[in-house]
Amino acid sequence: MTTTEATPKSFPPPPPAGPRPNPAPEAAIERVLLPTGTQAWLVTRHDDVRQLLRSPDFSADFTAPGFPVLRRVPPPDPKRSAGLFIRMDAPDHTFFRRMLTSEFMIKNMRTLEPLIRQTVVGALDSLTAAGQPADLVEHFALPVPSMVICHLLGVPYADHAFFQNRSRTLLAWSTPPEEAQAAADDLRAYLERLIDVKVAEPGDDLVSRLATERLATGEITRDELVGLSLLLLIAGHETTANMIGLSALVLLQHPEQLRELRDDPALIDDTVEELLRYLTIVRQGLPRVAVRDTVVGDHEIKAGEGVIALLSAANFDAEVFAAAEEFDLHRGSHSHVAFGFGVHQCLGQPLARSELRIALAELTQRLPDLALAVDPSEVEYRDAVIYGVRRLPVTW
Ligand code: HEM
Repeated sequence: MTTTEATPKSFPPPPPAGPRPNPAPEAAIERVLLPTGTQAWLVTRHDDVRQLLRSPDFSADFTAPGFPVLRRVPPPDPKRSAGLFIRMDAPDHTFFRRMLTSEFMIKNMRTLEPLIRQTVVGALDSLTAAGQPADLVEHFALPVPSMVICHLLGVPYADHAFFQNRSRTLLAWSTPPEEAQAAADDLRAYLERLIDVKVAEPGDDLVSRLATERLATGEITRDELVGLSLLLLIAGHETTANMIGLSALVLLQHPEQLRELRDDPALIDDTVEELLRYLTIVRQGLPRVAVRDTVVGDHEIKAGEGVIALLSAANFDAEVFAAAEEFDLHRGSHSHVAFGFGVHQCLGQPLARSELRIALAELTQRLPDLALAVDPSEVEYRDAVIYGVRRLPVTW
């Protein structure tokens, strides 16, 4: 067993100046000081991160004593946290997750692919119609996943400016807690009205199915349906949008690999996996708290101590990924943890993969002369829980 008594480093570190995460910390496990003034263990090795994320000795419930929060949050409120199963443990987590598993299965996502392709092609048309230079985020990276998740959930895309704005506010580090809560409340009120419409006139969409098959039967409450819809709406567009923007930037910065991908479209699956690893957009890691005394790697963690599974460090672990700092689409990065690991591993990953493959394949094939319209040093990055670029001015 080892113990570390050194003065803790601050976490998270300042954002990097480019698309790739900061270099991985050297220590396998070290004590860090969070912006809220509390301390937590930062877990960085690939093996340890996977062990901790699949262990029942850790809780994902942010109301559990000792849970490591990176931002000050208002006191827990059952109405506001209903249905948000990403922050629940079994059996509640299992109950909600099971309700949605079949909806997000790979085979269902495959049937969605023609619609994704159509959406991608339409967004590329709107990008080229905007005239050069145009912002790839505004015309392509953000609309594609927003339209797809709207279609799946039955949310009118016409309302995209509203929900994109509130999601951005909610996820930005700089948003004061009260403002973040107001943004979440606005989204909740919007979804409550939407659910009333679905109850009265169900359509062929996920929110309607949940309203008729689970809400009407009393299996879930209205607040829980609001929470489920909120989680899916936010997770469904913000993450993939940030991945598409950053991926385009990384490919443009690696012109030889971009050319290879253009010449051999079959490389798209490996390219997407390597981009997921190399970018690890959930950069601040995944917080958990130990619910009993336990061991991670060779390190003892006491009940009530917070831990952060640093996905970006695990994805750059030299024991698993040789020359991890390099972007290499031939790597075959299938053991990355960009979608997390264990029971909370991303529910939307089949959807995210389909969207990324189609979006990046069409972008590279249809705009072979795509280029950055600014110097890479001028690209601005998002100050948010999920890393991304604010704008990406391009020509073609
Ligand atoms: C490239 C895009 C994406 C990335 C990198 C990503 C990443 C992640 C990660 C790291 C987690 C684990 C959180 C934890 O353990 O605390 C997660 C969970 C989740 N993601 Fe994603 N995600 C992406 C896209 C999506 C999409 C498109 C959806 C769509 C609906 C989605 C829905 C969810 C949900 C519902 C959870 C919670 C699962 C649970 O707690 O059981 N994600 N995601």
